[in-house]
Amino acid sequence: MCGIVGYIGPKEVVPLIVEGLRRLEYRGYDSAGIAVAGSAQNPSLLEVRRAPGKLGNLEKVLLERPLHGTYGIGHTRWATHGRPTEENAHPHRDSSGSLVVVHNGIVENYLLLKQQLMARGHRFASETDTEIIAHLIEDELEIARHNAADTNGTDATTTAANTAEAIVVSPPSSIPLEEAVRRAVKRLSGAFAIGVLSAREPDKLVAARSGPPAVIGIGEGEYFLASDVPGILHHTRDIVFLNDGEVAVLTRSGVLFTDFEGAPHQRTPQRITWDPIQAEKAGYKHFMLKEINEQPRAVRDTTLGRVSLDSGRVYLPDLHISQSFLQQAATMTIAACGTSWHAGLAGKFMIERLARLPVDVDYASEYRYRDPIPGALGLLITQSGETADTIAAQLEMISKGTPTLAICNVVGSAITRKAQGVITTNAGPEIGVASTKAFTAQLAALFTLALYLGQERGFVTETQSRHYVDELARIPQKLEDTLRSVDDQCAHLAKEFSTARDFLFLGRGIHYPIALEGALKLKEISYIHAEGYPAGEMKHGPNALIDETLPVACIATKDPADPASVLKYEKTLSNIQEVTARSGRVIAIATEGDTEIQQLVEHTIHIPAAPELLLPMLEVVPLQLLAYHIAVKRGCDVDQPRNLAKSVTVE
Ligand code: M6R
Repeated sequence: MCGIVGYIGPKEVVPLIVEGLRRLEYRGYDSAGIAVAGSAQNPSLLEVRRAPGKLGNLEKVLLERPLHGTYGIGHTRWATHGRPTEENAHPHRDSSGSLVVVHNGIVENYLLLKQQLMARGHRFASETDTEIIAHLIEDELEIARHNAADTNGTDATTTAANTAEAIVVSPPSSIPLEEAVRRAVKRLSGAFAIGVLSAREPDKLVAARSGPPAVIGIGEGEYFLASDVPGILHHTRDIVFLNDGEVAVLTRSGVLFTDFEGAPHQRTPQRITWDPIQAEKAGYKHFMLKEINEQPRAVRDTTLGRVSLDSGRVYLPDLHISQSFLQQAATMTIAACGTSWHAGLAGKFMIERLARLPVDVDYASEYRYRDPIPGALGLLITQSGETADTIAAQLEMISKGTPTLAICNVVGSAITRKAQGVITTNAGPEIGVASTKAFTAQLAALFTLALYLGQERGFVTETQSRHYVDELARIPQKLEDTLRSVDDQCAHLAKEFSTARDFLFLGRGIHYPIALEGALKLKEISYIHAEGYPAGEMKHGPNALIDETLPVACIATKDPADPASVLKYEKTLSNIQEVTARSGRVIAIATEGDTEIQQLVEHTIHIPAAPELLLPMLEVVPLQLLAYHIAVKRGCDVDQPRNLAKSVTVE
């Protein structure tokens, strides 16, 4: 996820911004840049330096070609649109080169806007969505200048014609930068937190927010902008958290807040008492908990710009696989590891249901031992894009002539470089070793892929597409609701079950991979032995394990509108009865409004209703929180469990 640091005040700005960006490094990034103005020699000169890779590279550039000034903005970029190169690094300029923008988020309608701007003569230098924001602001300034010139001509004529006295009409002033920003952001759809500087309006820094966080720091005669508190906490503890739909104008004499219409907002700073480490975790005790809570945004950012609520169509411009291949493909083979493999298992149900394409799901480490039949489409799922086993599976696929797609969270990683097509999961960097938000983002990406394949292969009607897209768009809010409603209950259950020696997780159909994921989360961070099982398999052996000491988490959700889902639910209820009959202690994950199940089991956790293929994104939340609270209760190192690494780069 990108980092932003901006400053206006009496100090030399470059070291201050670079230090702030360094304090945001934990967010992850792959290039960096800075724009600076207000030097004593040339106060209106606005200069930019950028470099791919880590901040050290930018510092080298700044040593070779130093910058001086007293206001500016810096940025660390986590690539989404376009590779992590110098050209794609922020800040981005408008056509005149006198206005720069840094941006955190995704502009959903950037292709359309780019076309419109190109038709109006704008030329672009990068592959990013951000660059269009600079051009849009320039466009608004241009439009205002034109309108003002027209109005001036008319007024001057009218004045001369209507009055006997000569009146000196002062030349029309064009709109100020902040007004152009307000007008430009209203043309954007998607998510953004931006910082803007213009050489034409010195001593001013404009920020706007809709989605990703942005904070304003209030110092003594100095003012700060950052994407996150740690970037400025060492300078000020008086912070205003910019609200969605707000613009802040930072000058040397203070900060003015307005909404996107220009109406002033009264904002009072909040005193932040977090220490720097707490601040990196946004006040959460662990990165894992922060990342669990970031899932609504991860899902929203993964689907933004890829689905149309109007038409129900899915757009995956980076797939690069011909429609005829997609229509004729005989099978799909998914290879992945760990949590990503569980996402693949859930994806199989989505793709087979919506696209009628048979799917095999392999552990990436096992793929090479198969002798696959040609004609398949390969799909690698990976958070890091650097997992050695998954890279090996990809190479094996490529060597057999299988075209590969990747669902990946890191643009420019090894797997995305080798893949023919990529769907990025825009979950932002995941720091906790236990994968959480990357998983839900993978499920969202798989759902969009399944729907896309269904549309390309002609198995999903327009009405069905619209329904699915509409339901998908509701998932972030449902995730928010789930996070709010289940956390206390999971913490309470953790007290009861933290001393368990073993745990079972059960599910049927698409819910079985979620049972596997629940078991993996628990074992990796709490070190309790846990197994995931298809609920129907219990009677074929594992029932022998059940006694009054065994907690059994059972996913028993249903979509009442879907008869197959209801049937599955009923069979799961029978399996639950088999467990309770043997004194097993059942924790059921059920759909809201389901009171029947409460009569059968000791504990019920309710989650919102959704179509069956979307339920996994919601079901996993209580399982993540249960694992988290149990691990905390047992005093385990939640973010860095023993013997595990975030990125497994050995086979
Ligand atoms: O980066 P990847 O998604 O390829 O990583 C795969 C697994 O190593 C990873 O999902 C692992 O299982 C997680 N620690 C689970 O929480």
